[in-house]
Amino acid sequence: MDTKEKKIAFFDSGIGGLTVLRDAGILLPTENYIYFADTVNVPYGTKSNEQVFGFISEAVEYLSKKSIKVLVVACNTATSLAIKELRAKYEFPIIGMEPAVKPAIINSGSKRILVTATTLTLKEEKLENLLNEIDTDNKTDKLSLDELVKFAEKFDFKGEKPENYIKSKFAEYDFNDYEAIVLGCTHFLYFKDLIYKSAGKNGIKIIDGNEGTVNRLNFILKENNLASAYGNGSVEFINSCTPETDKFRLGMFSDILKGKI
Ligand code: DGL
Repeated sequence: MDTKEKKIAFFDSGIGGLTVLRDAGILLPTENYIYFADTVNVPYGTKSNEQVFGFISEAVEYLSKKSIKVLVVACNTATSLAIKELRAKYEFPIIGMEPAVKPAIINSGSKRILVTATTLTLKEEKLENLLNEIDTDNKTDKLSLDELVKFAEKFDFKGEKPENYIKSKFAEYDFNDYEAIVLGCTHFLYFKDLIYKSAGKNGIKIIDGNEGTVNRLNFILKENNLASAYGNGSVEFINSCTPETDKFRLGMFSDILKGKI
């Protein structure tokens, strides 16, 4: 098979990475995709490094045996834990995601920036190094929003429960001191509106890393002469190393990818 006609794989602990795949499908409609959700093991962000590293290794090994040309780790948590090791092990290009702190700081004024992510991402060295490098004025604060991953996996995107949870986590912040909130977990994108509303400050910027990731994917495909002109945007869904067959879930995935959710 011509390498260009192989699939682009997306990997996440669950449905978070679908928000990235949705954007990729718009920018790169003539590709075919595989989406791997590690539904059996989600959430990652509250588990131990060793456990999560094991989950990631198994998932990527499975994907490597499929016909793939590029891997997008559409998960900040998995990227912060394993991207180095994955790149050392596999020959195909691997694109990771990290909280979009860089654009947030580059475009910032004088107010503070709240970086939200999973507990695991927030405590990892990768984010610490990034902040040491670019947050020279010390203007970021970190907040974990782990429960949002669980709400998203139940497709509870707009209910009272996620709203109350976000409000309780935000209660100690005065958002008049803040100009931006970074969504450093792909699952959090489903709650963008609730997060904006719960911050209660008109015009506060909500920043995510999706656009940067998809642009990077586009660049890597071109640079490596891997872009296909013949795909039709098809997606093969994998649920923790087995094909996804659940009709309800497949319906929800399709709605997410069509932008209905
Ligand atoms: N979606 C993932 C991320 O971007 C991780 C969520 C989880 O499994 O805790 O960090």
